[in-house]
Amino acid sequence: MSVDALFRPFQVKSLKMPNRIVMAPMTRSFSPGGVPTSDVAGYYRRRAEGGVGLIITEGTVVERPAARNDPKVPVFHGEALPEWKKVVDEVHAAGGLIAPQLWHVGSARGRVRTGPRSARSTAPRASPPPANASWSR
Ligand SMILES: Cc1cc2nc3c(=O)[nH]c(=O)nc-3n(C[C@H](O)[C@H](O)[C@H](O)COP(=O)(O)O)c2cc1C
Repeated sequence: MSVDALFRPFQVKSLKMPNRIVMAPMTRSFSPGGVPTSDVAGYYRRRAEGGVGLIITEGTVVERPAARNDPKVPVFHGEALPEWKKVVDEVHAAGGLIAPQLWHVGSARGRVRTGPRSARSTAPRASPPPANASWSR
């Protein structure tokens, strides 16, 4: 089987990829306090240098009290954003593209809770809960 197609450029609207190699999101838990470090930038830069056309980052969490299940998973808000900018700049300098995977882990937090213990998990719902539901909106 030929893999030549993987190395051909690809464009969809404004997204112009140098090839069709996309890196799947993989949790690393290497961001103490939720802020990505130069280690994180180096990790993604090396993937771009290695020829990955588009990197989807590890799960990063939105600004909700119950969004995270691990304090070393990076957040995607507040003081972490300037550090993410450094990650993006390093990947771009290496010729790659990068996009964040945004997470709210909801009930998957299980017993490892990082937000306030009283924080309720939230999850997408197709319709409003009934008035007598025991969970909060
Ligand atoms: C160490 C590790 C961490 C992962 N972290 C995430 C993640 O943060 N978000 C996600 O959507 N998938 C995550 N995955 C799943 C991968 O993105 C990918 O979907 C999976 O490894 C594909 O496996 P398959 O090729 O066997 O189907 C992770 C996988 C591994 C091995």
